[in-house]
This record gives sequence, structure tokens and C-alpha cells, in this order.
Amino acid sequence: MRKKIVAGNWKMNLDYQDGVSLFSEVVNMAKDEIVGDQQVVVCSPFIHLHSIAQLAKTASHVAVGAQNIHQAESGAYTGEISASQVKSVGADYVILGHSERRAYFGETNALLSEKVDAALKHGLLPIFCIGETKEERESGKFFDIIKTQLAEGVFHLSKEEFAKVVLAYEPVWAIGTGLTASPEQAQEVHAFIRATVAAHYDQSVADETSILYGGSCNPKNAGELFAQPDIDGGLIGGASLKSRDFLDIVKVFN
Ligand code: G3P
Repeated sequence: MRKKIVAGNWKMNLDYQDGVSLFSEVVNMAKDEIVGDQQVVVCSPFIHLHSIAQLAKTASHVAVGAQNIHQAESGAYTGEISASQVKSVGADYVILGHSERRAYFGETNALLSEKVDAALKHGLLPIFCIGETKEERESGKFFDIIKTQLAEGVFHLSKEEFAKVVLAYEPVWAIGTGLTASPEQAQEVHAFIRATVAAHYDQSVADETSILYGGSCNPKNAGELFAQPDIDGGLIGGASLKSRDFLDIVKVFN
């Protein structure tokens, strides 16, 4: 049975103490309120990782992740952080290919495939983001876009390596806009993603792949979205910055 995962993406928010305080609330609420086997992941800015990773050890359902890594092993890359360094402070996951990194930092599928390799080499589980822009959806070409992001980003991996990858479908037009994809829209793309994985690898690999939805997911719409057969959880932005909202989304899987 594939994993049900709710991952919070704090993006570039929360100074150190505010982040540690929020994470402490999330951990305490998770301990009291989670009764299922869902996995909670909090992907914080780098500054929080070491401290929240220590706190995460006290809660079986909770892990932490980064929001990016550099693809190089180490060296003269001023300002960058490597997979090994992120792993060394206790992270288990790393978000790669988020649309904001693709848009603002020019991250291509080719570059992201190198970042995926670096993550796996150091035991980090990639949360690999794919999704179309508003223009790509309106053009009707969004299935091609998503297929290319998969093919160029992760389909070089062996079956064993790919088994460690979590996919996240994030329609760019739904991120931070309050314009959530309808359950039907999201399910249609998730089913396409799963079928694309099955065609490249095989059905058993596809059936074991967790595919998360991201884009204005909140406590009001999470239930309907997560009830879809090919949606295995969410990648949550704004709603992950409020512990009550985030746990209410997590509890959909109770
Ligand atoms: O990575 C998740 C994020 O892109 C979704 O943001 O604020 O629409 O939940 P938000």
C-alpha cells in the first residue's frame, strides 16, 4: 500500500524561533491527534532544519525536509547547500522542481535530474514537483508538459531508485491563488501521471508511487481531494504555516 503523505512547504517564511515554535506545536498535535499511518513532513528553510529534526525524533509520524539542494557534492559554490549537508542535520526529504524554483531560478528538468541523483546518493527522499502554468493548461498541452517533466527529471532512475521518489502535482495556476484545482481536474492529472509511470516502469511501480496534490489545498477542500483514487496526500503551502489548519489536513487520513 503506497504511503499517504502530507508535506508542508513553509517556503521563505518564519525566523528561527517562530519556526521552531510552530514545529513544536505540529509535533505535539501530531502525537495527540494522528491515529492513522499517514506520514507528516515539514519542509522548512535551512535555518530551522537541525533543531526541528531533533524534535521530529520524538514523533513517529513526523519527518523534516529541505526545499532545495545544490547538485554538486561539495566545493566552490558560494551560498549553496549540498545533499550531504542537508542529510547531516537530520533531513529525510527534499522538495525538488518546485515551480517557484523553475520560474525564479531557471531550474530545468536536466538540472533537476542531477539534483534528484544527488539527493538519492545521500539518502534524501525527493518530493519531485511537476505541473503546468495557466497558459499551458489553456493551450491544452498540459499532459505533454507533465510527461516531459517526468521523462527528463526522474525517468532516468532505476525502478529501485524511483521507488524512493514522491511525486507532487502542483498546477502553477493554483499555487497561492486560492484557485484550487477541482477534485476532478486533479484526479484526471494524477491518473495520467500514474499511467505515465506505469508505461515507463510497470504497474506495480506506479501503484506504489505516492502522488501528492499541491495548490491552495486547505482544511475545507482536502477531504474531497484526498478521497480521489490517485491522490495520496498533499504538498501544502500557506495552510502549513498554521498548526491547526495543517493538522486538520493531516487528519483527513485518520
Ligand atoms: O509547495 C506547495 C505550494 O506550492 C502550494 O502553495 O499556498 O497554494 O498551498 P499553497
